[in-house]
Amino acid sequence: MSTRPLLNRRLEGMGTTIFAEMSALATATGSINLGQGFPDTDGPEEVREAAVRALREGLGNQYPPGPGVPELRAAIAEHQQRFYGLSYDPDTEVLVTAGATEAIAAALLALLEPGDEVIAFEPFYDSYAACIAMAGAVRVPLTLRAPAFRPDLDELRSLITPRTRLLLVNTPHNPTGTVLTPEELAAVAELAVEHDLLVITDEVYEHLVFTGAHHPLAALPGMRERTVAISSAGKTFSFTGWKVGWVTGTPALVAAVRTAKQYLTYVSAGPFQYAVAEALRLPDSYYADFRADLHRKRDLLAAGLATAGFRVFEPQGTYFITTDITPLGEKDGTAFCRALPERCGVVAIPNAVFYDDTEAGLSQVRFAFCKRTEVLEEAVERLHGLHGLRGLHAR
Ligand SMILES: Cc1ncc(COP(=O)(O)O)c(C=O)c1O
Repeated sequence: MSTRPLLNRRLEGMGTTIFAEMSALATATGSINLGQGFPDTDGPEEVREAAVRALREGLGNQYPPGPGVPELRAAIAEHQQRFYGLSYDPDTEVLVTAGATEAIAAALLALLEPGDEVIAFEPFYDSYAACIAMAGAVRVPLTLRAPAFRPDLDELRSLITPRTRLLLVNTPHNPTGTVLTPEELAAVAELAVEHDLLVITDEVYEHLVFTGAHHPLAALPGMRERTVAISSAGKTFSFTGWKVGWVTGTPALVAAVRTAKQYLTYVSAGPFQYAVAEALRLPDSYYADFRADLHRKRDLLAAGLATAGFRVFEPQGTYFITTDITPLGEKDGTAFCRALPERCGVVAIPNAVFYDDTEAGLSQVRFAFCKRTEVLEEAVERLHGLHGLRGLHAR
């Protein structure tokens, strides 16, 4: 047999995602999984029922239209108008995808040529690196550094070269919880316009902002025509398994992304698309209550982690808290996370996996708080066992 490696060299070193490894460890050890960002309770009953109804009524059981069912495209356009005053034509400026993950992949594959440079905030969500690599492009990280995790805008300017094609912006940002301020967004927009760059914005945590507010980059001057905005129903409605995401942008940008998307999944999640259309139209109280619930959980876990001895970087948004383990006498987040299930029955994610500059994230560990209150309380109690019983089985 040929000695040539089986895996395409663009994907070399990408292995199994850390989420799969840690979730398997959680199952094997019976640990509380604060690693992967999925809620442990499903979203609203009426939305689940809408999916059941769609299945029973035969809505979406066969291939739905390529761009997504008209009901959902209309609901996405209404959502952008309702929350941000952005107007999109549901027929030409909205595309439904298999989660934000497919939207990211399709957008990068559609818009990049081999050798193009993509500037993305690091630590970055792991699919960015893989998709940039699959497109043959080059990722250029702008490192968000502890403790504030703000983008250095002068550094951003210095990273732009004639090969820069695209800025990949994630706000609210996973894993740091950074929410870009209006001033930061304005500076990013100015650079994008000045250098005629395309921008992809990953806004999957748009409704999970606890400090400040979410502002879409597409709303800034000169940005609508160059921005592919991406979001998804997974986080906002607590149905991460449904994999319904979407893209909004100009007809030309959406057509480009659709060209790649049609050869990835073609279409997906037929009946769920109808249910998500109903979810997006839930009253403001749904969104406010959801945010308030997660805000309480953020505070509960942040306080518990602090008393357990972690340095806590309070997130402004998302499902996640980034911590530093140095005060616990630890240095290496990856080794710490591999040992944590055995030590105290909790699973977390080492932030180093989200960095090219692994030194910058070496001692950072991420915990998800999108779990039931009693689960978070139990996790905190277990983590308190780390204190005087370092290295021992504290459970
Ligand atoms: C920043 C970010 N983008 C995209 C996704 C993927 O979203 P989806 O489940 O809709 O594919 C996630 C999921 O964790 C995420 O954190």
